[in-house]
Amino acid sequence: KIPLPRNLYAPERRNSPGVEFGDAASLKQLLADIAEAKPVYSAHSIIDGKERTATRRPVLAPATGEAIGEVSDADEAVARDAMAAAQGGFARWSATLIEKRAQMLDRAGDLLEQRRGTFIALLQSEGGKTLDDCVAEWREAIDYCRYYALQARRSLAPQAMPGPTGETNELRYRGRGVFVCISPWNFPLAIFLGQVTAALAAGNSVVAKPAEQTPLIAYAAVRLLHEAGIPTSALQLVTGDGVAGGALVDDSRVAGVAFTGSTEVARIINRTLAQKDGPIVPFVAETGGVNAMIVDATALPEQVTDDVVSSVFRSAGQRCSALRLLCVQEHVADHVFKMVEGAARELTLGNPSQPSTHVGPVIDTESKERLDRWIDSHASRVRYRWDSDHTLPSRGLFVPPTIIELPRASDLKEEVFGPILHVVRWRAHELPQLLDDIESNGTGLTLGIHSRIDARVMQIADRLSNGNVYVNRNMIGAVVGTQPFGGTRLSGTGPKAGGPNYLRRFATEQVVTVNT
Ligand code: NAD
Ligand code: ALA
Repeated sequence: KIPLPRNLYAPERRNSPGVEFGDAASLKQLLADIAEAKPVYSAHSIIDGKERTATRRPVLAPATGEAIGEVSDADEAVARDAMAAAQGGFARWSATLIEKRAQMLDRAGDLLEQRRGTFIALLQSEGGKTLDDCVAEWREAIDYCRYYALQARRSLAPQAMPGPTGETNELRYRGRGVFVCISPWNFPLAIFLGQVTAALAAGNSVVAKPAEQTPLIAYAAVRLLHEAGIPTSALQLVTGDGVAGGALVDDSRVAGVAFTGSTEVARIINRTLAQKDGPIVPFVAETGGVNAMIVDATALPEQVTDDVVSSVFRSAGQRCSALRLLCVQEHVADHVFKMVEGAARELTLGNPSQPSTHVGPVIDTESKERLDRWIDSHASRVRYRWDSDHTLPSRGLFVPPTIIELPRASDLKEEVFGPILHVVRWRAHELPQLLDDIESNGTGLTLGIHSRIDARVMQIADRLSNGNVYVNRNMIGAVVGTQPFGGTRLSGTGPKAGGPNYLRRFATEQVVTVNT
């Protein structure tokens, strides 16, 4: 028996344990923590530790439409000042020992664990997330802090390079400078903190620009990182929309950009960076996907149903990993579609503060209108609409879970970011064409396969380019440090978030050769 390296079978890190929902006392305590949480009402940019206000607008709760706070939308001047402050903080932060940086991130994980009421309350009100989604995201955020702390110690430690030169050669990893981190609203805590902690762990100073829909969570998270010991000069927050994001990316001081969001905005940023004078700026982009699940006649229909429903409708379909296109082998298709429709009928829609709610609202009016239009424009192909036998909540931004049957997989070319499932059928001899059709959408994020034929599973996984392939299970909820997450082609540049190769992309390498 060949012994495995220690870190493969005995990780020195555990993922956050979360909450046992089935245990009444644990659930009661969680709800009490949420009820007692100190609210966060305002979010402004934070530059060198001080709030910088600008034009204010209300922050709206997607579930009720009510204002739950206010945010300052930064303009170009605020963005410039944040870049200058981060530039000023870089030298000190990059010279901080890796072990010290890692300890601060571990401390941030501990603080997040202690403050679960605050963050879960914000994820519910500002993010419109259901209780189980809130807990899952809070756990993921803790895991990112601790995992990147571990990876900083492990993958960024200086390495002695052996060789025949008679000198000492040391490879070291150093921060690049000011990293701009731009994040989406759909994981306003976990992705926001994932990007920021990775960039900090690698020795960069950071300007963080959260999504305009979810500034309160970001504000609370930045204050927590400062409390954990990250110097205020090393971490700046810019609240605002794409104008602020564009100004940050365009700034001459930017040394790297980490972006998670739509493919469309990733392309804009990529073009801006390519046209700049000065050094070539590394760009880490994680974007969306037209994610398919392929089900053959050997799959277990009950399991497929469960996995489809969670992959499509959990988070109201607002996950980049969510299933968009279900492809079922013809002679089991009607059976599977009916079971999925039956399960969708049982979903509870409503206010995310109720633990019984399965599907919450979508994030904003623009999203709701876009999704409603999509359903209307496919009216003749709709197989199932939740509101055909239930009433949608009278307030809030709710979109009915909907199932649309399409003639071919190639008919779905864009990411439909909501609780809408598209289904197609395929016959055994059509499988190669089906795979070509799926591949033709150009994205490559998640892929689901339900089959008990190993050779078919490998045939499908080999043909398609997806970064994360899930076999005989659902397609969401990648676990930090265990299922590194990210796509290929239009879905992202890599490296994968929550994986062992992520941090080095945020660092530069220097080799010091000493003639001894
Ligand atoms: P978005 O692209 O509209 O916005 C993302 C961020 O970019 C926001 O902070 C926004 O203010 C900023 N932005 C907008 N225009 C900009 C510009 N010109 N320059 C710089 N920044 C700009 O995306 P979204 O609606 O917030 O998020 C949903 C998208 O994110 C979906 O496509 C989803 O698939 C994707 N996503 C991907 C992953 C992943 O890991 N692959 C994870 C979550 C979400
Ligand atoms: N990492 C998130 C998931 O896997 C997006 O669902």
